[in-house]
Amino acid sequence: MEVVVAEHAGFCFGVTKAVETVYDQLESGEGKKIYTYGPIIHNETVVGDLEKRGVKVIEDPDELDASQNGTIIIRSHGVTKEVHKKLEESGLDIIDATCPFVKRIHKIVDEESNKGKSIIVVGSANHPEVEGIVSYATGKVYVIDSPQRAQEFSENVDEEYTVVSQTTFNKKKFQETVEILENRGYNINIVNTICNATDERQTEAEQIAKKADVMIVIGGAHSSNSRKLYEICSKECENTYFIQTLDDLHLDISGEVKLVGITAGASTPRNIIEEVQNYVRTNF
Ligand code: F3S
Repeated sequence: MEVVVAEHAGFCFGVTKAVETVYDQLESGEGKKIYTYGPIIHNETVVGDLEKRGVKVIEDPDELDASQNGTIIIRSHGVTKEVHKKLEESGLDIIDATCPFVKRIHKIVDEESNKGKSIIVVGSANHPEVEGIVSYATGKVYVIDSPQRAQEFSENVDEEYTVVSQTTFNKKKFQETVEILENRGYNINIVNTICNATDERQTEAEQIAKKADVMIVIGGAHSSNSRKLYEICSKECENTYFIQTLDDLHLDISGEVKLVGITAGASTPRNIIEEVQNYVRTNF
């Protein structure tokens, strides 16, 4: 039996940078209290380790008061403009680990809406990255999360729209969504802001899943890019498993298995991928 592990699996550039920032601060922060705005990564193992080292996760700026001092780290998804302002007012030192690819979307949205364009963000409205992107629009802004919603979109067809996407959106669905808007007569300027790391990961996962008899996707339960990988792989391989750690893996393999494929979301540490890989290699 062959086991194929995706080359583009695990931490992406932005997540690596954010996680390293927290560990660097723990080492060099001279005992200052460290906060992260939301869990730094959608991975309970890493967040648990940081908690043990004294890092506190803040979910709302109102949890902070002026008596606190220390450093707050903004994670790779970024935050809304309002939250950023509140964090500044809190008096904490801010380290902004927003991924540069997300920052680029903030800039596009800000500039395009200042030019009078309405903005369409293709993504999940309640995802923190999308909430951040939306906050940079100074005019009208809409979120569409699927081709079906594009069919139902009923705003003014005479306006000019700029369309961006959540960095981890499924690229096929993004293409379908913008095609529907175009076919329905909307005047749209499309900026595909799906990040390269996501694109490579999705393409490679799909290719492996096409050949695999069993496919394992490792990722955090709340990680949107991992769930999208699962979605893509399950279309190509009916025996696709979504796990967070090796403990969740209960392989029920019947029939002949020639190839097991493994991929992982952007927030999955290397050691978890290796554990799963070793387990599959030695037990099947
Ligand atoms: Fe950045 Fe792309 Fe990762 S936007 S956080 S490099 S998935």
